[in-house]
Amino acid sequence: MERGVKLTHMRERLVISVSGKGGVGKTTTAALLTRIVTEKTKRDLLVVDADPVMNLPRALGIEVVKSVGSIATRLRKDIDEGTYSGEVAKQDVLEGEIFEALVENPKFDFLAMGRTEGEGCYCYVNRLLTQILDTLSKNYEITLLDMSAGLEHLSRRTNRNVDVLIIVVDPSRAAFEAALRIRDLAKEVHIEFKKIVVIGNRFPLDMEEELGNQFAAEDMLLIGLIPSDEELSKVNYRGAPLFELNGESPAVKAVESIAERLGLLSEVTLLRLLGHDS
Ligand SMILES: Nc1ncnc2c1ncn2[C@@H]1O[C@H](COP(=O)(O)OP(=O)(O)O)[C@@H](O)[C@H]1O
Ligand SMILES: [Mg+2]
Repeated sequence: MERGVKLTHMRERLVISVSGKGGVGKTTTAALLTRIVTEKTKRDLLVVDADPVMNLPRALGIEVVKSVGSIATRLRKDIDEGTYSGEVAKQDVLEGEIFEALVENPKFDFLAMGRTEGEGCYCYVNRLLTQILDTLSKNYEITLLDMSAGLEHLSRRTNRNVDVLIIVVDPSRAAFEAALRIRDLAKEVHIEFKKIVVIGNRFPLDMEEELGNQFAAEDMLLIGLIPSDEELSKVNYRGAPLFELNGESPAVKAVESIAERLGLLSEVTLLRLLGHDS
């Protein structure tokens, strides 16, 4: 996990989650943030695809062999069939397999949550998973989660330790309303975000003020807009990774300035974001 000189002696951990209605651009945002953070910083980055649909690997040009869900499914089956004995063994087995499922890239690591199969409760396996994932994310300066469109994950543990909640909206009422619901639900289940921000995707750039005001009226901060990007459409249609986009493409530029405003590219802002600075 050592990748060259660290920016700082402070080893802060930042967990960022990307939420929003289906199809608004969560995966695109997560992939472009991954690109910017790896290109502009030397931060250790863990990227997690927490959406069972698993679109993020393609956007990042990654091949996933094993997902956490498939491992959990198998483990539960083995437990049900009595193959395992002893608590320690289960935890060790699961931990070992999750490290195997971790895709190590030169610039970031990647984990796909996938889905679990079959009926019934995964409570026990989920509890183990939560512990392992919490431990895992402590090894990275930034953990970036691409969430599913549903809201159920908000009441699950995967989202509990989130520092920055990014909500993506597209130009639709449904996306706006979903953003408010996500905020409300987050409050209801007592998730304490240090920061909750909105990104407007596929918006004409001259709508920034209008959209900013609308969210300000809801006590939410619009952190930037990503324009509709034709090159992005072409790259996406080819199924190619977003790393292939020209660095000058409008979406890449927009996400770069969003990353900057989020404080991901400068150490000082990252610390402020975490409340270590006044
Ligand atoms: N700014 C953009 N310009 C062009 N196409 C985009 C843009 N944002 C998203 N798309 C496309 O819209 C579709 C849905 O985006 P995606 O990021 O997968 O949404 P989500 O993860 O929220 O479901 C994808 O085909 C993606 O390539
Ligand atoms: Mg997605």
